[in-house]
Amino acid sequence: MDKDQALKLVKPHLNETRYDHTERVMETAITLADVFQVNQEEAMLAAVFHDYAKYRPLKEMVQIIKDFQLPEDLLSFHHELWHGPVASILVETELGIDNQAIKDAIYWHTTGHGQMTNLEKIIYLADYIEPGRHFPGLDIIRKVATKNLDEACFMAVRNSMTFLLSRERLIYPETLNMYNQLKRNLEELNS
Ligand SMILES: [Fe+2]
Ligand SMILES: [Fe+2]
Repeated sequence: MDKDQALKLVKPHLNETRYDHTERVMETAITLADVFQVNQEEAMLAAVFHDYAKYRPLKEMVQIIKDFQLPEDLLSFHHELWHGPVASILVETELGIDNQAIKDAIYWHTTGHGQMTNLEKIIYLADYIEPGRHFPGLDIIRKVATKNLDEACFMAVRNSMTFLLSRERLIYPETLNMYNQLKRNLEELNS
């Protein structure tokens, strides 16, 4: 499936703002895949479909989490986290995308986890740094992202957790696992 075919498939599932975001995540992911020698077609497809389930009714997402035996602990965390895991199911059942690496990158883009592949890191990061995002500290992460994938992902997850903590929101355990693992990787690199 090429870019145009993929974008045409995702378009009816997104509003205009989210579609524009998706295009930018796609371009960012393709660039990162080139830099870090990750399969560019997989990066393109995972990026195009990462928010595929974003606008499904909450009731439908709950049903899918139960029916497909996704971790039920998701349901005790903010519903914003659900659309990644749910999309990883729907892209296969509705669109026939059965590539495990792509599905995993879609699955983990909302929470991260402790043993992320480079493709998963690229989608997580592309979603965070795409050029339409504007908040303090982003430019430095964009710069780091051209050189060190772990460090850029670490900065992104650290910022997300800081934001959540400042609002006394819950932290999904896999997000903490992502933070810890990347911190360890970076310490090893610098020791
Ligand atoms: Fe998302
Ligand atoms: Fe997104």
